Amino acid sequence: MKRSEGMKLSPAPDIVVGVKVLVTGGTGYIGSHTCLRLVEEGHEVVVVDNVSNSSIESIKRVSQLTDTHIDVLEGDVRSKTRIDAVIAETSPEAVIHFAGLKSVAESVRFPDKYYETNLGGTLNVARAALQGNVAVVLFSSSATVYGESASMPVDEGAATEPTNPYGRSKLYAESVLRDLNAANPALSVGVLRYFNPVGAHPSGVIGEDPRGTPANLMPYVARVAAGTYPELSVYGDDYSTADGTGIRDYIHVMDLADAHVKVMEYKAENSGFETWNVGRGSGVSVLEMVSRFQEVTGKSVPTKIVPRRAGDVAVSFANVSRIARDIGWSAKYELDDMVADLWHWQSQNPEGYE
Ligand code: NAD
Ligand code: UD1
Repeated sequence: MKRSEGMKLSPAPDIVVGVKVLVTGGTGYIGSHTCLRLVEEGHEVVVVDNVSNSSIESIKRVSQLTDTHIDVLEGDVRSKTRIDAVIAETSPEAVIHFAGLKSVAESVRFPDKYYETNLGGTLNVARAALQGNVAVVLFSSSATVYGESASMPVDEGAATEPTNPYGRSKLYAESVLRDLNAANPALSVGVLRYFNPVGAHPSGVIGEDPRGTPANLMPYVARVAAGTYPELSVYGDDYSTADGTGIRDYIHVMDLADAHVKVMEYKAENSGFETWNVGRGSGVSVLEMVSRFQEVTGKSVPTKIVPRRAGDVAVSFANVSRIARDIGWSAKYELDDMVADLWHWQSQNPEGYE
């Protein structure tokens, strides 16, 4: 069904079922968990990915967990021709656009790469979606778009002043989508600004499998616990926070996946361009995370304090009232679930998907 015809509704009003969804970057960390939740909710999923930072094994495992075959198409969002062809071939009703690059440090060294993939790729996907009469586009944005000046908890109306090319590539991509929606109001667009996704599916069968040395806190903590690295470097204990370490809004990846399903179902029935923070709305420090991890898993995580990491903000956590009000969604998993599920995945898959 196309956007001009509206979406399929189940006999119970307000429940959108059986949407055909193209998931770009669906073999990646957040994408694979979202594919699983989409299938669980009765939606039909096709993935397009260039597997530059992922493995097709993730989707094979989602297929096993859900007992549903999921097609994975090879495709690079930097190729308009390829993305046009994928949309023409699959005729999705909704596109969830995860495909992108996410390293702040790499974006400082290779800003062109980030603009090409995150901004150019989003433009290609959005134009292909318009051409293919897709009803809904959801976009993976980041809390990074707020930058340093925001007061916490930060709401969606706060100023956006990203401090690095990665954050700017996400903010400019948001603007592209906003302008395309203004010119084409029938295309319903949802932007999700993620805070700090962590954890894995409770089965431990799928999870986060970063290539090389993890830059993010919790994958690194898991590898220290597994013995891959001797200790965690804590980037600064002189912030003006209770224990001096940085504070973030950690959210279980299954909660984040669920938010995508709920937002997609909402956007199928509501036009316009809308932006939502997706977090738990509470801040947790680095040392608190490490301590929860040690208590829940019984594993030791030695730490050493090192200087602050360039570009880090002291505190970042979300005001989540807008997504609760509009969508009726809020996070359900607790910190202990995040660390337990992370460890379950790590201990069952010491080499990731390899
Ligand atoms: P990920 O690297 O695991 O997933 C991204 C996927 O996109 C991978 O499967 C990768 O192979 C694919 N991809 C990359 N470039 C591509 C290209 N040119 N063409 C096609 N596919 C391509 O990362 P993730 O953590 O799952 O993040 C998903 C999205 O969410 C990204 O856009 C990221 O910027 C955004 N995001 C992530 C976080 C986080 O903490 N993980 C926070 C905020 C926003
Ligand atoms: C980082 C990126 C953000 C991106 C997100 C997902 C920066 C400045 N921000 O968010 O743009 O969207 O990853 O890729 O890079 N920490 C340590 N030791 C470590 C790793 C992290 O102490 O080895 C601390 C950090 O200083 C921070 C907290 O842990 O206080 C969380 O860090 P991280 O997981 O990297 O997430 P963000 O910095 O919030």
